Amino acid sequence: MSEQELIPIYVAGVRQMVPPLFTIQRAMEYAGYVLIHNCGCRGGVCGACATEYRLPGDPLIKRGLACQTMVEPGMQLVQIPYYPARRAVFDLEKTEPTAEGLVDLYPELAKCLGCNTCTKVCPQELDVMGYIAAALRGDLKEVRRLSFECILCGTCATHCPQEIPQYQIAMAARRLEGRYLMPPAPMMDKRVEEINNGFYGAELANLKTLSKEELEERWKANQGELKRW
Ligand code: SF4
Ligand code: SF4
Ligand code: FES
Repeated sequence: MSEQELIPIYVAGVRQMVPPLFTIQRAMEYAGYVLIHNCGCRGGVCGACATEYRLPGDPLIKRGLACQTMVEPGMQLVQIPYYPARRAVFDLEKTEPTAEGLVDLYPELAKCLGCNTCTKVCPQELDVMGYIAAALRGDLKEVRRLSFECILCGTCATHCPQEIPQYQIAMAARRLEGRYLMPPAPMMDKRVEEINNGFYGAELANLKTLSKEELEERWKANQGELKRW
């Protein structure tokens, strides 16, 4: 591509000339960045590539996923590194699937101001404040419904004036709902029992004897099988 066909973008303030029809992620790699961090699935699922950007003449900061957002001329961007939001460690068997249970794990939940900033910044366009409000009501089913497409990118938490780790709270709520409120899954119990009784023991023992190359061959052979599903 000739120099005239490239467009300028600014990555953390550094000007780079990149092709116009690239995602931010591909454009950064074109410019020579090696994405050790801020890159995972490349498909809008893992949440590793949250990016904030501004376009010329627009005072607003926008948010998007670098693997899903196209570059635009003059775009100024920065990627959000890992965000150290607190994640409560808890025993599922000793935590109640209620608002009180969640507030015990995350006391900051009770300090939500209802400012809606989290909803405005979510690159998945989720109703983040809505699921936080549902968590406060103890409506775990609604938390799951509203947060199901959360990709744990952390953007909501980086902007919360009350330091609430929204996505961690939603994860805890979904786990509690799965443990206590959802109908039991008999097939799952059966499979766990089979595993505990060594039903797959011979296959696992055999896999452990294979070399890396043999495992790769086995994996490739299984791809055709998987595609049929
Ligand atoms: S940004 Fe924080 S305080 Fe504001 S609504 Fe969301 S969770 Fe509540
Ligand atoms: S809810 Fe928060 S962590 Fe989840 S996708 Fe939206 S901004 Fe990212
Ligand atoms: S790299 Fe996984 S969401 Fe962008």
